[in-house]
Formats: sequence, C-alpha cells, structure tokens
Amino acid sequence: MTSDTFPSVRLRRLRKTPALRDLVREHTVTMNDLIYPIFVEEDVEEARPIKTMPGISRIPEKHLAQEIKAIYADGVKAVMMFGVSHHKNDTGSDSWQTDGLLARMLKTAKNAAPELVIIADSCFCDYTDHGHCGIVRDGHVHNDLTLENLAKQAVVAARGGADIVAPSAMMDGQIAAMRQALDEAGFTDTPIMAYSSKFASGFYGPFREALEVDLKGDRKAYQMDSFNGREALRESLQDEAEGADFLMVKPGLAYLDVLARLREQTLLPLAVYQVSGEYAMIKFAAQAGAIEEKRIVRETLGAFKRAGADVILSYFARAIAREGF
Ligand code: PBG
Repeated sequence: MTSDTFPSVRLRRLRKTPALRDLVREHTVTMNDLIYPIFVEEDVEEARPIKTMPGISRIPEKHLAQEIKAIYADGVKAVMMFGVSHHKNDTGSDSWQTDGLLARMLKTAKNAAPELVIIADSCFCDYTDHGHCGIVRDGHVHNDLTLENLAKQAVVAARGGADIVAPSAMMDGQIAAMRQALDEAGFTDTPIMAYSSKFASGFYGPFREALEVDLKGDRKAYQMDSFNGREALRESLQDEAEGADFLMVKPGLAYLDVLARLREQTLLPLAVYQVSGEYAMIKFAAQAGAIEEKRIVRETLGAFKRAGADVILSYFARAIAREGF
C-alpha cells in the first residue's frame, strides 16, 4: 500500500546531504548566464568610485582596454556598456557621432576582448543635459522624433562593434525602428535585447549618481507604472512582435511576478536586470552586518532563475566570476 501523504511521503529524504541536494536542485546560475554592467567616463584620469554602489567605479575611457581585458580574464562573458558623457546637449547627439563616446568605447572594448559579448545600452539619458531618454518638446519626451535618433544610434553602435544593442528608452515602436535601421545598414545579424518591461522605479537611484544624470522631472510618461502587471506583458509582447530577440524585466526582485507571467507567454530568451538600488540594498545591509552578502546574492539570482530568467544583468557578476558564491 502506498499513500501520497505522510508518513510514506517524506520530502526531507531528498534534503539529507549536500550531494542529494545538489542532485535535485532545479536551477543553477553560472557565468554563462550573467551580464556585467559597466560605466565608462570620458576625459578623466582616475577611476571614480560610486559612493552609493560600494565596489563599483566609473572606468576612465583611457583605462578601458586594460579594464576590459581584466574583466574578461576574471571570467565575465558579457558586459552592458554605459557612457558617462562630458558632451551632453538637448538631443544627446554625441551618442550617434561616429567619433562620439558611445562609438569609441564599444570599439575599444571589442578590440580589447573580441570574445567578450559587448552590449550597448541604447538610450539618451546619459547624453542629454536634461537627463531624459529622448527629445523633449513642450515638456514631453517626443516619441517619434526620438525613434529617429535611436535608429541612428543603433547603427553607430553596431558599427562600433556592439554584439547586441539594448534599447532602454521606452519609446513606442523603438524595436521596429531599430530593426529596420540595422537591417538597412547591413546589420541583419545584430540582435536586439529589448528592455521591454521597464518600470519607472526608485530602484534606479544609485545609477543616476553613477552616470551623473541630473534629471528634471521624472520618467513616468514613458516608463511603466509599478502597479501594472498586465500592461507589462503587453509592453513585452509588443516588443516581441516588433522583432526583439530578447525581452527584459527591470528592476528584478520587486517584479518577479511579471517575469514569471512573461515566461508563460513567450518563447524568447528572457533577461532580468538586478538594478543599482537592488545592488546597493544588499551591499549596505551586508556592510551593516544584517545579512550575508554571498548568500543573499545567490538567493536573489536563484529567484530570477526560478521565475523564468535565462539571463541576469547584475553588478555582482564580476565578484561572482572572481570568488564564486
Ligand atoms: C537608462 C537606464 C537606466 C538604467 C539602465 N538604463 C536608468 C533609468 O531609466 O532611469 C538603470 C540601471 C540601474 O539602476 O542599475 N534609460
């Protein structure tokens, strides 16, 4: 006689030893799954530590080649690159100049470590003096004018050596506009990683310091309301229909429901971004002795996998490559 309940069922049987637990573990996280975001600053001599992100510094452009080699040697396999521009204006035009920071840093990184996957964050907030993710007209970010610039920037990024472009501006139609421009320029094989379900989030706080973004107002007219789950699915599925090769949920931990629901609705690879504020919360809590950093990192990345992520962007990626967890 078998019964499907206690005492014949004892779930603890498979938890008895470390080897047994390893055997039945449902998910793993390896360096194959991680993308390390980096910040590259032009016209400076020294690396500048970011106070609200302990352990993370802006990399001076002139040290970029050597830093990229070191990051690759540590075992990181993919980086997401952000520029810290000293040539900001109202359109962010430096980002689509062939000799601008974005083009230069991608080229330098690709040459320094050809095997490293180089991903270009495709947006304007790092390059505009008002800090918005596009062209401002009458107090609003103008969707369709911004699309034209995103298309130009995508081609410059691909020419510079980006293996993937990753639009994060949250303009409607941005995937289609970039896909068309890339295809017309001959970059039919350059994938688009869409920041498809991106929320207007307080968790981006430290990132603004990292990039010296002096944002006037907020991004609520283009990034999503944090209370909306169904709309997040619509956003991602639109991007898929426009030709995205990856979808993304951002931030991570507070949006696991979106990730899990999206997993049920798409066959595309799914990325999740453990953003600057999530990093900062773990770092500062660990520094205060409240939690163990490595355990929490492991647990949060495991949660992303469980919820359905294939790829995780995390500022912990380099430390994990060096020290494991
Ligand atoms: C730019 C962009 C942001 C982040 C990634 N790309 C900031 C924002 O939208 O305000 C945030 C990343 C992080 O906080 O780690 N559009």
